[in-house]
Amino acid sequence: MKSAFISFVIIVCSYGSSFAQGPPTNYDESAIPSYTLPDPLLSPNGKAVTTVKEWERKQRPYILKLFTENVYGKIPGKPAGMHFKITETDTAVLNGRAVRKQVTIYFGEGDAAPSMDLLLYLPKANKPVAVFAGLNFNGNHTIAADKAIKPAKYIKRKDGQLSDSEAIEASRGSTASRWPLEEIISRGYGVATAHYYDLEPDDKDGWKQGIRTTMKDALHIATGAWSAIGAWSWGLSRIQDYLESDAAVDAGRTILIGHSRLGKTALWAGANDQRFSIVISNNSGEGGAALSRRIFGETIRNLNTSFPHWFIARYKSYNDHPEMLPVDQHMLLSLIAPRPLYVASAEEDQWADPKGEFLSAKNAEPVYALYKLQGLTVNEMPAVNTPVGETIRYHIRTGKHDVTLYDWQQYIEFAESKKVVSDK
Ligand code: GCU
Repeated sequence: MKSAFISFVIIVCSYGSSFAQGPPTNYDESAIPSYTLPDPLLSPNGKAVTTVKEWERKQRPYILKLFTENVYGKIPGKPAGMHFKITETDTAVLNGRAVRKQVTIYFGEGDAAPSMDLLLYLPKANKPVAVFAGLNFNGNHTIAADKAIKPAKYIKRKDGQLSDSEAIEASRGSTASRWPLEEIISRGYGVATAHYYDLEPDDKDGWKQGIRTTMKDALHIATGAWSAIGAWSWGLSRIQDYLESDAAVDAGRTILIGHSRLGKTALWAGANDQRFSIVISNNSGEGGAALSRRIFGETIRNLNTSFPHWFIARYKSYNDHPEMLPVDQHMLLSLIAPRPLYVASAEEDQWADPKGEFLSAKNAEPVYALYKLQGLTVNEMPAVNTPVGETIRYHIRTGKHDVTLYDWQQYIEFAESKKVVSDK
């Protein structure tokens, strides 16, 4: 009897979870239901947008609003009293080739204000340098095995036996392969990064500890009016605020980079904050670069079930109806125009739908064309490890869901080829 009850519970539970996750994941091209993408250049009154002026004055704000209201929520402005404290400067790191700075960005007056720890590496140069800015997954202390790096405030760990300090020491440098500092510095670029948990822990209840609660009054915004992705994006803009205050940085040339959920975040931040001069989406997938109407790999329902905090509540109403969304993700990419955009996929990352990422980039081209800029320049997906495109670049590299040296080398080359001019 007892075992019959247990198996009943197991059946109900597994039915419950598979129901929540919806139909099984589709990985079959021929099984993708047909879909029609909304046209980024079709204005609400049914007329085609044909000029940059119309795009910038009306259509762009309109599309941004659609994403705000249906997908990611609002992003508030800069907080009053924000200030920076440089807590460490080492002028001879990475074999004497770089300067490392650690900066606390306080989101209000006084040192009790909520804050974020920024880690900055700058190559030694006789002029201000362009910086790659992006959030990291596991804490600043994991991007390089350097004991001087201030550990993350929130330590994620698998082994419950470790004390906080043991867990920190064990994880120092553990994500270094995703941040090839030597390569970046030797090519003349800097890196600015912060742990995304400083803004909001990545958990369904993370908002209770994060800035959506602690900054609620200061930013005059209700917690549900924005999302975790919104909070992380807001943090990227605060990094840019700091970069603008640092004379060693050419903040007119900041290159925004993000992987996966933080790639979704980089796209949303880049759409909202046009101070970012180039935007890079690395394996951002569903809710990032990939088309939602293309049912392949992760779906909106999967996102909202596993990560209910990433998007606003309204996005859940599209769980089984991407066709009802007034936008699709190519329209998010089009909000980066005319700035250079890089979308990158990985061959073994089918969950993120590489082809859906490619097609999304392809369908952002008409907006770049308004500026007389060429996008991908090809119609078919390129072979692996073969980047394509002018102002929109795309590659699919061999291997798994990750950020690799290969990816970085392509991003650096892209940044070099774009020679983004500082507006300072
Ligand atoms: C999960 C999630 C993806 C996300 C990824 C990541 O796989 O389903 O949407 O991009 O985590 O952030 O690594």
